[in-house]
Amino acid sequence: MASNPVLVVHGGAWAMPDDMVEAHVRGVRNAMAAGWRVLEREGAALDAVEEAVVVMEDDETFDAGRGSFLNRDGKVQLDALIMDGATLRAGGVGCVERLRNPVRAARKILSESPHVYFVAEGAERFAAEHGIELCRNEELVIAREVERLREYQTDAAGHGNDLFAPAISHDTVGAVALDGDGNIAAATSTGGTLNKAPGRLGDSSLIGCGCYADNLSAAASTTGWGEPIMKLVLAKWTADRISAGNLPEWAAQEAMNYLQQRVNGHGGIIVLNAAGQFGIAHNTPRMAWGLKTVAKEEAGVERGAA
Ligand code: GLY
Repeated sequence: MASNPVLVVHGGAWAMPDDMVEAHVRGVRNAMAAGWRVLEREGAALDAVEEAVVVMEDDETFDAGRGSFLNRDGKVQLDALIMDGATLRAGGVGCVERLRNPVRAARKILSESPHVYFVAEGAERFAAEHGIELCRNEELVIAREVERLREYQTDAAGHGNDLFAPAISHDTVGAVALDGDGNIAAATSTGGTLNKAPGRLGDSSLIGCGCYADNLSAAASTTGWGEPIMKLVLAKWTADRISAGNLPEWAAQEAMNYLQQRVNGHGGIIVLNAAGQFGIAHNTPRMAWGLKTVAKEEAGVERGAA
């Protein structure tokens, strides 16, 4: 292998309470194990980020796949993007309601379509035509989220429930990887924000906002309140700082400073360049993160300045 593989994952940035820490750390470790199995077999970074994200979509701890936040109508509506830093090919799905693993559909788009982005029924039709089984939306809805939505909708009328406060969960998941051939990739998947308007699309599945990958700059995945992140095209903003010669660690922290100062946003980011240098930062009290290299494996819920 020309490069030593690196894998970084995240599982949401917010004021995660103590009693949820263990599940989040376990979830990111499971995701790393799946992604690393690909990399250690000399597989592609693109496959590694897909497998890592699938594990977190399947884990109800996170706001991705089954167990995601519900929208205003009580439905799960999912967004995901995957991007290949070697070729700049990308695949994205938005507002899908019948896919357990939207990142799998995004990957099919990347690999098998001349297009980059599909939404709603068109995305589901594309997925079904390419061998991905559709489910009923009810299969993605869990009791915890029905109760969370009920509480939010009851409280929102008069108790100052601030949807964008860091105390409200933002458990969007993502992964960035470097493979032995020196290629990087990124993937991000989310159920979006609690009580969102039907059809609302967040940052996660938009190229350069919630996800980006280019071997010449960096692979990045963000998490947090999507609207401010979209306004700054934050993943691409961060990658551009790295192609200008800055270290990923610095660029990740700068991205969080910029997010807060420019648009009062909160969230987190993971970023990795083709030299294997990485950055992990958040401006929320906690962010679930994991890092694996040939030399070490680490995971936690705090990193850098918060
Ligand atoms: N970052 C996820 C969202 O706002 O949809």
